[in-house]
Amino acid sequence: MSTTKLWGGRFAGKTHPLMEEFGRSLESDRRLLFCDLQVCRAHLQMLGECGAVLPEVSQRLVGTIDQLVKDLNSGATQVSGDHEDIHSWVEAELRERAGDEASLIRLGRSRNDLVVTDFRLWTRQALQRLQEAVRGLQHALLQRAEEQAGAYLPGYTHLQRAQPVALSHHLLAHFWSLQRDHQRFAQCAEAADCCPLGAGALAGSSWAIRPERTAELLGFSRAFDNSLDAVSDRDFAVELLSAVSLCMIHLSRMSEELILWSAPEFGFATFDDGWSTGSSLMPQKKNPDPAELIRGRTGRVIGHLQSLLVTLKGLPLAYNRDLQEDKPPVFEAVEMTEKCLQVMTGVISTLRFETANMAKACEDPGLLATDLADHLVRAGHPFSLAHELAGKWVAGRLEQDELMLVQPLAEALTAQSVLEARRHSGAAGPESVQLQLDKARRSIQ
Ligand code: ARG
Repeated sequence: MSTTKLWGGRFAGKTHPLMEEFGRSLESDRRLLFCDLQVCRAHLQMLGECGAVLPEVSQRLVGTIDQLVKDLNSGATQVSGDHEDIHSWVEAELRERAGDEASLIRLGRSRNDLVVTDFRLWTRQALQRLQEAVRGLQHALLQRAEEQAGAYLPGYTHLQRAQPVALSHHLLAHFWSLQRDHQRFAQCAEAADCCPLGAGALAGSSWAIRPERTAELLGFSRAFDNSLDAVSDRDFAVELLSAVSLCMIHLSRMSEELILWSAPEFGFATFDDGWSTGSSLMPQKKNPDPAELIRGRTGRVIGHLQSLLVTLKGLPLAYNRDLQEDKPPVFEAVEMTEKCLQVMTGVISTLRFETANMAKACEDPGLLATDLADHLVRAGHPFSLAHELAGKWVAGRLEQDELMLVQPLAEALTAQSVLEARRHSGAAGPESVQLQLDKARRSIQ
């Protein structure tokens, strides 16, 4: 198919080849292909309904689009050529199939409203995929948490051993952060749920088009209120990037823990062979690469959020070509996040928890110190003294008479007993974790 520009009449001279190449976005925005065709179809149908285009012409062109979609799906047609962007390719293809009549598709719209309509549709689909990927990881965490009901390990603050926690409790902590990601993605879908088509280049159209109808045909629940805002608003993309950044931060924190846990210094987890890699030099190595790559990609996703924010900050109303730079960061960030969620699901589902090492680490008497202080308070001592005595006990600095008071209480404590004592809702003990598991299960059904 020959390359046809969507503009040119006012130019006497030819575009410099470097300018052509510099302005081209086809490689990136070919992802919008099916969204673009959906938007073209809805627009034509609306134009036919409101009489801007003869109904039979509208129907014919809709038929051409449907056939094109079929041919693309079957592989009979492929996107190719040096087109400026995906919209130019679509129009050129339609003209080749339906003749000049196909250019009626440009009536009452411009690429400025078209591109952002495509982008919003793409965003809504991407959010659904992200939500599914989040659910996949939540299911894996939940399943592992249910399986590991009896296991416990030291919980940490400042990366120093603090108090024992049930392994399921630890896994569920990550489940709940993903639950918030899922909710945030739903909020992002709401932000994207507004149809800008009909805003035209910036001021709407002199044709009696019906933007509400196009919105309805495309499954948006509302149409734009202001044409200038419609073509320049990218808040939905910023919100999406911010939500995926936060989701990646959650994955990155999980990754960091898994990396620590798999080091022999901790020895709490072993990566499955299918989810780790080796070294070209050191034969003994088994590295937690998936977790390191997720941690590494988090930096890139956060960078994409920064990139869009900085792109937007200086833009006057309405459309500016800078806005072409909005999509690659979003595409890459979403694709990376989705992949990272899937990889983490694979890692978690197959990880071996070294529960014997976890229990061994809980033999550290320091983990009992808080409960020892609590027992001293129960025995009638002020908390300040109880804290002091328990601290001295840990450090082996108790005087003989103090030791006689503290030792019997300390001897009655074990990691399991202090864990079981944590029974209230949300606590780390097995009874409350059982309730938490039920709640988590219900929350994703
Ligand atoms: N490729 C552009 C983008 O992604 C859309 C085309 C708008 N171009 C124009 N000259 N108004 O934003």
